[in-house]
Amino acid sequence: MWVTNIAALCLLALLASAEEKKLSNHATTLAENSANLAFSLYHNMAKEKDTENIIISPVVVASSLGMVALGGKASTASQVKTVLSADNLQDDHLHAGLSELLTEVSDAKKRNTTWKISNRLYGPSSVSFVDDFVKNSKKHYNYDHSKINFRDKRSAVNSINEWAAKSTDGKLPEVTKDVQNADGAMIVNAMFFKPHWDEKFHEKMVDNRGFLVTRSFTVGVAMMHRTGLYDFHEDTENRIFVLNMPLGQKQASMILIMPYHLEPLARLEKLLTKKQVDTWLSKMEKKAVAISLPKISMEVSHNLQKHLADLGLTEAVDKAKADLSKISGKKDLYLSNVLHASALELDTEGNPYDSSIFGTDQLRNPKLFYVDHPFIFLVKDNKTNSILYIGRVVRPKGEKMRDEL
Ligand SMILES: *[C@@H]1O[C@H](CO)[C@@H](O)[C@H](O)[C@H]1NC(C)=O
Ligand SMILES: *[C@@H]1O[C@H](CO)[C@@H](O)[C@H](O)[C@H]1NC(C)=O
Repeated sequence: MWVTNIAALCLLALLASAEEKKLSNHATTLAENSANLAFSLYHNMAKEKDTENIIISPVVVASSLGMVALGGKASTASQVKTVLSADNLQDDHLHAGLSELLTEVSDAKKRNTTWKISNRLYGPSSVSFVDDFVKNSKKHYNYDHSKINFRDKRSAVNSINEWAAKSTDGKLPEVTKDVQNADGAMIVNAMFFKPHWDEKFHEKMVDNRGFLVTRSFTVGVAMMHRTGLYDFHEDTENRIFVLNMPLGQKQASMILIMPYHLEPLARLEKLLTKKQVDTWLSKMEKKAVAISLPKISMEVSHNLQKHLADLGLTEAVDKAKADLSKISGKKDLYLSNVLHASALELDTEGNPYDSSIFGTDQLRNPKLFYVDHPFIFLVKDNKTNSILYIGRVVRPKGEKMRDEL
């Protein structure tokens, strides 16, 4: 009894101290700004014709931008602040704020979710990294550094992919097939994210179903099913469902946004703004929902260099203009590639669910949320309001299924 009471007290104290640790003002501002960046980056990528699945982590993009600011001088550095809508922040506040944000949201232990993030800056063999930069980019952004002989393309590609595979426990075996513009510096983000549901799926409630990629193309996927109480909103005017699935101990949640029926996502994407998402979230109501969600793994790699340039980062990526001399001590570098790669695994695992509500009125006539066609998702952090991921699933892996007549 004694012991349990003491344990309970300690736990309370722990919870209280976790609660009290508030985010600084700078980190709060940057969380908000990186959420805005999420939507502009998403739209910039979605308009590309041959892009199918998208997975980007705006928080990790923001911290990579922070690293560029750390290595840049003059307008090469100040453009980073403009892209982050943080022109008024002092440099040290920018770095401390981004660093605080990243540390908070990527604390896998506290958040009971799997999120591995590895960041590396590759430079050509001729470069020598400045000690101060190496130290600070590690400290604030968890970046490490490596020199690579880009002229030997095959071995450069192999060594980048090997590093990514190793740092994601094999979940991300390939981030790139080729290296273009072998004369610059290259950012590589290698990530693995696996939601830990606040209420798990039963591992036996999984079967094979079709996922409709288009009207004439269906792939077979494993589908997991569960019924529970979820925040749910049905936008009847726009014919869109929005579902909030909490993760861990509700520190974050995965928000799924899906048209009623199969259709290209372009219509939904036209509506997709931060404001609209906030409106949908504010209209959510707790309802019984029968969810069927593909149990899939995806690996997606994007080169963000051009997209970041479109959003205003024009100097760092320009060989003639870039001043990244705080990285190398000389004006000899530009940012030639920004490889942003994630493996995402949707699986049944999560916290045990409360089975006492099964068979009660609470779960009667559930709303159906049957994810058998393309959808958009966000992983939103509950404490900082930052967006850990934004993306879309358009074409999951799977065998083409025969059309049934
Ligand atoms: C999450 O918590 C469960 C128990 O509540 C534990 O079994 C699991 O390993 C944890 N996962 C992570 C990623 O910390
Ligand atoms: C955010 O956290 C609070 C406090 O833990 C919780 O009550 C709420 O349900 C969470 N929100 C989401 C969307 O998970």
